[in-house]
Amino acid sequence: MFSVQYCVISTFLLLSNCEKQVIDVTKSQVWGPGLKPADIVLPARYFFIHAIDNSGKKMSMTHKNYEVSIDGYSKDGKCRSNINYIDREDGSVIVRYTIVDWCEQMKIIVKHNSLHVAQSPYYIQKKVYSERCYCPQDLDLWLLSNGCSDFSKDSQISWDLHLFKRVNFSAIRENILKRYNAPESISLCHYVVKKQHIWRKCFGKYTGFKMFMDATLSSLARVVVLPEMEFYLNLGDWPLSRKGGQQRASGPYPIFSWCGSDDSYDITLPTYDITESTLENMGRVMLDMLSVQQTDIPWDNKEEKGFFRGRDSRRERLNLIELARKFPDMINASITNFFFFRNEEQKYGPRVPHISFMEFFRYKYQLNIDGAVAAYRLPYLLAGGSLVLKQESHYYEHFYNKLLPYKHYVPIKRDLSDVIDKIRWARDNDMRAKEITLAARKFVDENLLPQHIYCYHMTLFKEWSNRLISPVEVLPGMEELSLSYSCSCKKGQNRDEL
Ligand SMILES: *[C@@H]1O[C@H](CO)[C@@H](O)[C@H](O)[C@H]1NC(C)=O
Ligand SMILES: *[C@@H]1O[C@H](CO)[C@@H](O)[C@H](O)[C@H]1NC(C)=O
Repeated sequence: MFSVQYCVISTFLLLSNCEKQVIDVTKSQVWGPGLKPADIVLPARYFFIHAIDNSGKKMSMTHKNYEVSIDGYSKDGKCRSNINYIDREDGSVIVRYTIVDWCEQMKIIVKHNSLHVAQSPYYIQKKVYSERCYCPQDLDLWLLSNGCSDFSKDSQISWDLHLFKRVNFSAIRENILKRYNAPESISLCHYVVKKQHIWRKCFGKYTGFKMFMDATLSSLARVVVLPEMEFYLNLGDWPLSRKGGQQRASGPYPIFSWCGSDDSYDITLPTYDITESTLENMGRVMLDMLSVQQTDIPWDNKEEKGFFRGRDSRRERLNLIELARKFPDMINASITNFFFFRNEEQKYGPRVPHISFMEFFRYKYQLNIDGAVAAYRLPYLLAGGSLVLKQESHYYEHFYNKLLPYKHYVPIKRDLSDVIDKIRWARDNDMRAKEITLAARKFVDENLLPQHIYCYHMTLFKEWSNRLISPVEVLPGMEELSLSYSCSCKKGQNRDEL
């Protein structure tokens, strides 16, 4: 009565064996930030459903027939929402949704074959606003309801800030510009945030990437009261705040960057790539940390080869092509674009078209080889359900220091000399390889989903603001960003009044 029956393919019998496994909708689990949409405001709200069988065990295959709906009232009657399902083929589904403007007396209904799942329906007491609305919440309250931890509990933030205990920008602004004023090779922007307004001034010839930080700060300003602060953001690939050398007497200077390295003091932010996919979740971006978890090819059906696609931004990538030619039954690797080693296209070509990440995950082993700096695809590879083989590197993103070799990925030497051995190891230890892959996805779910990317920014910004001892001032020549929003939670207030 309260359950449905379906078939499991038994891997032991090699035949489709119709056991009767029964889902218990009342025991099944539903959890995640998307169930608290009034407190946790994200571009797309999301939550998880895991099916539990009638003996209380987590099921490992999924029924695709969950039906989620959002009920409630908005200005034109019913709330308008957009709902999307991501089936991870491991017994769990990610559900994500957006709402238009706002929703009152909101109810989230989760059903399976017309029966309510877990505690469905979920009643939301407070009015729920879209992330597109301008409704900044108190920072400390926001950090609390989002479950963000203190900066001191994040090893990367603590490390990055350990040299910058008290920062007097009045004393170093000029030196920073003197040191990094190299318009041909360095691009950086000076941001000032004050009273929920954002200003910036950029230096250098190529400053297009400022759009990512502009979008990040404007999005955050809609949902949380930003602390007063200023910072310099490096728009280039390479970290700037070098250890030793010329700077020894005068630096190091605090520079925010998307990529850190063992030989620099840059303060790392989540990359523009993962941040954009967070801000544009269910929007402009197709690939993000949730959608990449859609699983079409189960582990056992993946081809047991190492896979790589990417541009020619590092010599090792070309060496990998050579290896793939020597061991075609082990590695499938190709270059998608020749730019850095254009004159070697003859040798390492032909160039192949880009393919989607979904196509990557037809292969069991994913090779993560540095590009100009860290390869910003690593978060997606960790989430995708294949084993990651990661080249050792002195470059890192904001989360690498929480990753453990042989727990979340398999390390490979910088010169790639052990790639073939590592692929052999993975083939011979399929259970271990699968375990590592599952641990990687768990890591992603606990560290790299949209909520965590928001938290990381705000935790860092809050502590950064605390450390500034010079007054935060808008300087001559700075341009104010116009915040974009489509509604506001203050009664009677519309765009023009803000
Ligand atoms: C910051 O530096 C400026 C310029 O060197 C100096 O005048 C000021 O007293 C410093 N502020 C603090 C709080 O140390
Ligand atoms: C390598 O991978 C691509 C993309 O999946 C595929 O089209 C191609 O046939 C593969 N090459 C070999 C030799 O298996």
